[in-house]
Amino acid sequence: MTATTQVHRGAPSGEPLLEAKDLYAGYLPGVDILNACNLVLHPGELVGIIGPNGAGKSTLLKALFGLVPIRSGAVTLHGEEITNLRADKLVHRGVGFVPQTNNVFPSLTIEENMQMGVFQDPKKFASRFEQIVDLFPTLGDRRKQRAGSLSGGERQMVAMARALMMDPKVLLLDEPSAGLSPVRQDETFIRTRRINKAGVSIIIVEQNARRALQICDRGYVLDQGANAYSGPGREMMNDPKVIELYLGTLATDVEAADAERRAAQEGTAEGGASQ
Ligand SMILES: Nc1ncnc2c1ncn2[C@@H]1O[C@H](COP(=O)(O)OP(=O)(O)OP(=O)(O)O)[C@@H](O)[C@H]1O
Ligand SMILES: [Mg+2]
Repeated sequence: MTATTQVHRGAPSGEPLLEAKDLYAGYLPGVDILNACNLVLHPGELVGIIGPNGAGKSTLLKALFGLVPIRSGAVTLHGEEITNLRADKLVHRGVGFVPQTNNVFPSLTIEENMQMGVFQDPKKFASRFEQIVDLFPTLGDRRKQRAGSLSGGERQMVAMARALMMDPKVLLLDEPSAGLSPVRQDETFIRTRRINKAGVSIIIVEQNARRALQICDRGYVLDQGANAYSGPGREMMNDPKVIELYLGTLATDVEAADAERRAAQEGTAEGGASQ
């Protein structure tokens, strides 16, 4: 197995749609947050990025979208170099980005937020709006409501809807399920999968690692700005090393603690009865 196939374990053959090669990037001079980071996204794929807080997941998406300077390495789209290309140019080339925070214009209405999505090509608005509202019916019903008065989940929907307005081929999603109730999280994952099935290739960064790996074709673990593991989503979910280091054993720990507590309570109850 070559080093490349190790880094991108389970990736399909053929030319990737988007490729990041040995990226070094950061915010402050001399401080690299990404350290030789690699990623490929093939046409039609849904790829997840997981990893500890501060690993550089958001930085990677921002670097791909021209918002954090790449100091070394290259990003290509359809084989053409797009390293450090400005965000507006990337939007034109079919890349959409939904940031983790501050992702709506709070003083604008839902409809106006979506207009901002096509400000480079306003003629697209009417037809795209109808299509996107099909996917997010709530947004159509409440189009005149200010985004600032929406809940976190609704804002996340507006941000995703806005990014979809330009009909992107690649969508970069940063923690779309953050801060949502379990039901809303599920809706977000289902919607992400639907958007992907409709032909949009997606890179999704997720805190909810298990759920993300369930819906993703492949996943990458980032740790300290570098690739730690990769592979088909379901395979990673069952990889003991990935579980131990990145998915945590919290569920089993909680179950074990509960069982211990119950046993202790039963012991006390029995003890009490015999006295
Ligand atoms: N604007 C910034 N200026 C300077 N350093 C930053 C900036 N944004 C992030 N960093 C630093 O870059 C590192 C990686 O941050 P990043 O936001 O990419 O992590 P993350 O993997 O997305 O974490 P989380 O899971 O908490 O969202 C952190 O050490 C963070 O402090
Ligand atoms: Mg982040």
